Amino acid sequence: MKRLLVILMLLGGIGLSPAFAQGLGPDIPKATGQPHPEGNLFWRMNHMRLLQHDRDLTMHNGDRHIQASLKTCVTCHAVKGADGKPVGVDNPKHFCRVCHDYAAVKIDCFMCHNSKPEEKTQAYLKPKIPDSKELAAYLKETGQ
Ligand code: HEC
Ligand code: HEC
Ligand code: HEC
Repeated sequence: MKRLLVILMLLGGIGLSPAFAQGLGPDIPKATGQPHPEGNLFWRMNHMRLLQHDRDLTMHNGDRHIQASLKTCVTCHAVKGADGKPVGVDNPKHFCRVCHDYAAVKIDCFMCHNSKPEEKTQAYLKPKIPDSKELAAYLKETGQ
């Protein structure tokens, strides 16, 4: 019952009531990348179940080809701080905190999981080095 109440409060606060226009609802930061095909409303209501479901897939079955990966959430939903770098969950502007603070939800996920996008270097993104010419260019690029 409490869960339903919180969700209704939140949905009301976000889009459907005049309270939102007056700035009383949480101000959810914009994301980058493709929006979820299921829509925002679905994700507002179901993200916790999706995350838990997919965590079990990974932890219990070793399946990493999952949809609701925390790594990807914090990448598309990264919020930049004053220094232009993505903020961590210690910052109240962090995507996952905006609604949770509003609805007094506490999650412990980021005790273990990174709340910021991973720093992917060019070197990581290069899958294979097929020939010596490319290898030379690659080494030059990475400064080795
Ligand atoms: C490929 C990029 C991408 C990934 C990955 C992604 N999202 Fe999103 N998400 C979006 C976009 C784009 C929107 C549309 C709203 C917007 O423009 O900010 C959105 C919307 C949402 C909303 C609704 C926000 C609102 O304003 O109502 C929630 C909640 C959400 N995502 C949670 C998650 C969670 C949790 C994960 C990880 C399991 C995740 N998203 C992964 C891009 C992404
Ligand atoms: C649009 C608002 C909103 C955003 C953005 C949002 N959440 Fe939530 N989240 C909620 C609400 C509301 C609840 C509590 C719902 C309930 O009590 O069932 C919740 C609950 C959860 C729960 C379950 C907590 C529990 O104790 O059962 C997890 C896990 C969670 N969110 C993860 C995330 C993560 C990770 C992000 C960022 C990637 C995120 N949420 C972003 C609104 C949001
Ligand atoms: C005590 C540490 C710990 C906590 C707390 C924790 N996790 Fe995890 N989680 C892990 C580990 C370890 C893995 C496996 C990581 C791997 O092998 O890539 C994992 C994997 C996952 C995965 C699948 C892999 C991925 O990239 O997303 C999801 C989804 C996930 N956890 C969600 C959650 C959510 C949601 C919470 C909070 C409700 C949470 N976890 C809290 C340790 C933790």
